[in-house]
Amino acid sequence: MTHEVSAAPPVALHRPLPSARTAAITGLGLYAPERVLTNADLLQFVDTNDEWIRSRTGIAERRVAAEHETTADLAEKAARQALEDANVDPAAVQLVICATSTPDYQFPATAALLQHRLGCHAAAFDLEAACSGFVYALVVAQQFIASGAIDTALVIGAEVMSRVMDWSDRNTCVLFGDGAGAAVLQAAPQGFGVLGIDLGANGLGGELLKVENVSGSENLPVTLEGAPGQKRVYQNGREVYRFAVNVMGESALRAVENAGLEPSQVDLLVPHQANIRIIESAAKRLNLPMDKVFVNVHKYGNTSAASIPMALREARDEGRIKHGDNVVLVGFGAGLTWAAAAIKWHDQRAV
Ligand code: UT7
Repeated sequence: MTHEVSAAPPVALHRPLPSARTAAITGLGLYAPERVLTNADLLQFVDTNDEWIRSRTGIAERRVAAEHETTADLAEKAARQALEDANVDPAAVQLVICATSTPDYQFPATAALLQHRLGCHAAAFDLEAACSGFVYALVVAQQFIASGAIDTALVIGAEVMSRVMDWSDRNTCVLFGDGAGAAVLQAAPQGFGVLGIDLGANGLGGELLKVENVSGSENLPVTLEGAPGQKRVYQNGREVYRFAVNVMGESALRAVENAGLEPSQVDLLVPHQANIRIIESAAKRLNLPMDKVFVNVHKYGNTSAASIPMALREARDEGRIKHGDNVVLVGFGAGLTWAAAAIKWHDQRAV
């Protein structure tokens, strides 16, 4: 059976969560590399212009990792900040999940490197769901806490997208940026934390947004001479756009419904920061004014799995999230994948 890529999602994991034990985000961290690449800077590489990029995407600048910086380096900085923010000793972390499409190595997992660097006594693995990765990882960690298997998890989204960019392709290189965001999850008081989720995938659209793997594909036979060189992002932007404007609103709505909420009760939508027009369409589907939507795509571009936790930390720092608020996260990305979570915010400092 085939399904239109941009039509109603064919599969989704979105049963209401049993309320016995939930998990809340108790600490947030963000790290953005120092180097700023403005739209004007991009003119040195590609035939583009500031007006096109701003009007089609909302992006004004993005960050680019230094030569020596890897995904693990970015992730470590965001993770340390999140642990400090939560006032959690790294040794108390029992699970580290790193959502990334740009890991330091094919293996070992970046999360394992972080377990060691941070000094966590934890299981550790990477999760690859592209730009939906952070919310996927949040839901996985939430399940470990809900089941009672663990009490504390560290979930990170981190990317060095600059390393998989084709800097001569104006269709893609203007869109992405590097960064990392992290969240500490702990068991929450009754009625708080992650209350509703929606996860899904439609591999029919797998070819629309991809980076070929050195381990081979039908287009890329691996020979005894070894793997071909580094591959770069390919995207059919128009088709991904059609998918995104549909799925962002629908997925967010399902998570809200599963949390037992009405869209009108949403205090803040924190969407994946890919494109301001996609964000606006999601807000419209939920009937939310833009002052209930957090946007920082102009500063960082699309940082893939890092975008939602980076946005969350900035939203919290700007006073946009208070104890008891209904906060909705929603993302979409390669796969194609989508993921949403509705959270009743628990601020341990406010209680
Ligand atoms: O996390 C998931 C990541 N993916 C996304 O979020 C991507 C979703 N898609 C999009 O955001 C939009 O499709 C884009 C921003 C990528 C493109 O916007 P669009 O309005 O769909 O433009 P288009 O691809 O239809 O291209 C329109 C024109 C083309 O020129 P012609 O053929 O009409 O003469 C492009 O060649 O714009 C041209 N163009 C550019 N011009 C200046 C494409 N990229 C650029 C550029 N600068 N950087």
